[in-house]
Amino acid sequence: MSEQPQIRFEDGAAYETYMGVWSRKVGEDFLDWLQPPPGVSWVDVGCGNGAFTALLAERVSPSGLLGVDPSPAQLDFARKRSGVEVARFESGHAMDLPAAENSADAAVMALVIAFVPDPAKGVAEMARVVKPGGLVSAYMWDWPSGFPFHFADQAIESRGLPRVAPPSWEASHLDQLEKHWREAGLTGVESRVITVARTFPDFETLWAITLTGPRMTAAAQALTPELRGEIAAELKEKLGVAEGEPITLSARANAIKGKVPR
Ligand SMILES: C[S@@+](CC[C@H](N)C(=O)[O-])C[C@H]1O[C@@H](n2cnc3c(N)ncnc32)[C@H](O)[C@@H]1O
Repeated sequence: MSEQPQIRFEDGAAYETYMGVWSRKVGEDFLDWLQPPPGVSWVDVGCGNGAFTALLAERVSPSGLLGVDPSPAQLDFARKRSGVEVARFESGHAMDLPAAENSADAAVMALVIAFVPDPAKGVAEMARVVKPGGLVSAYMWDWPSGFPFHFADQAIESRGLPRVAPPSWEASHLDQLEKHWREAGLTGVESRVITVARTFPDFETLWAITLTGPRMTAAAQALTPELRGEIAAELKEKLGVAEGEPITLSARANAIKGKVPR
């Protein structure tokens, strides 16, 4: 049996076009729902290239903002972003956050929980660093069908090529999120589904972006040029896109919030 390819985040610029745009789309609705108090301090766990960090900086005027991610490439992109001057970016992992107990007012995982090897430990870590009464929140694509590039993953898997999925993908489901939030002792737990849409100018643009993602990059070794061409043709037909016409994809994320007990 072939080994499952690992999803790696090694290109902050490519990530921006591939997923950063999507993350901010969900993030806008997420923040409308979260209604966080302005001017408080945040930890953005798995901040990546700063796609959601930038939205936080713009929308909630944080008094402090710590972005944590294990990927040097993502952090490098985040540090060079404009609009995130309030943020400090540090290398680290969700299961061992580089932050003291009760040191922030809010913590968030934006499109991250499915990548955390032990999601329960990751949620407990957010609860540890957030002060009593503070917010612990997350959103994640409802894996697999909610993921925006699900159509490409399906085409790969249907050809018997190695499945490429985040290690803890089950944690993206609403029941699992709720379980983790309650088991971490968080109170007032609420969840919701967020659906977003993104329009690409034509299929070629969508396909080119699809190929740059960490998932396709992980599967690259198994994808010969012929197979790529075959998959592209199949998808074009399946998605029903006319030559040169725009195409709109929709995607579905699950969101959750709770408070650290006082
Ligand atoms: C899909 S990206 C999300 C990035 C960003 N939060 C956003 O909204 O676009 C997932 C991120 O999780 C990071 N990640 C993977 N494993 C992690 C872990 N154990 N702890 C923290 N972050 C992790 C990756 O490096 C990557 O930047």
